[in-house]
Amino acid sequence: MRIVVLTGAGISAESGVPTFRGPDGLWEGHRVEDVATPEAFERDPETVHAFYDARRAALASVSPNAAHRALARLEGGIGDELLVVTQNVDDLHERAGTRSLVHMHGELRKALCGACGARVPWNGTLADEPPCPACGARMLRPDVVWFGEMPYELERIEQAVISCDMFVAIGTSGEVYPAAGYVALAAAFGAHTVELNLAPSEGVVPFDEVRAGLATEVVPAWVDEVLAHR
Ligand code: APR
Repeated sequence: MRIVVLTGAGISAESGVPTFRGPDGLWEGHRVEDVATPEAFERDPETVHAFYDARRAALASVSPNAAHRALARLEGGIGDELLVVTQNVDDLHERAGTRSLVHMHGELRKALCGACGARVPWNGTLADEPPCPACGARMLRPDVVWFGEMPYELERIEQAVISCDMFVAIGTSGEVYPAAGYVALAAAFGAHTVELNLAPSEGVVPFDEVRAGLATEVVPAWVDEVLAHR
């Protein structure tokens, strides 16, 4: 059984990583137009760097939770029949042990060079405009996909979604495309669709199955069921 799991900010909420649209979400304290568009970076790189440098530094004080660990356990059980597609830019899936993973919106622990296009591992700050390790230019930016930019690995993701038997969305509000359109695509190709979320999202296409609750509770229970039926 081929499974595609799409995760959003809700899976990392209980680890202490803020969501975007929830109470105290990132978009409560910051305007998207000021920190998450190429135009904002062009206009005011200091504010943008400060925003992402702070989020990158905060990764040191958070850890994967039971939901991240359950998905790693699922991968242990079904191997490459599982693909995890995350909208999150934190590294909690990897730290939990997930390997079959696509970061469609980029990664906080990487930097992208505006001169040579290199994507380099990065743990420090970017506000001080350090040189690119590949070409030496001082045009590094956070390797995060901003609004109006093309997400990563769309072809690979779409291929997996149209050929999966089960599509599962965890901790995402289903408000941002193209990710929000994957449930409809999966359903159109005959997959069984499941939502695991604190509150059912109000997407256009309903899920076949909705389990409401905290990710650290509903995800391990769902993984136990899948592994029990193998
Ligand atoms: N357990 C399960 N679900 C949760 C939890 C939790 N502990 N806490 C919050 N949620 C759910 C909320 O109910 C909401 O539906 O997670 C969802 C988080 O939604 P958003 O904050 O909108 O985050 P997300 O869907 O990942 O945002 C998508 O938008 O801002 C852009 O690029 C950014 O990747 C992001 C994209």
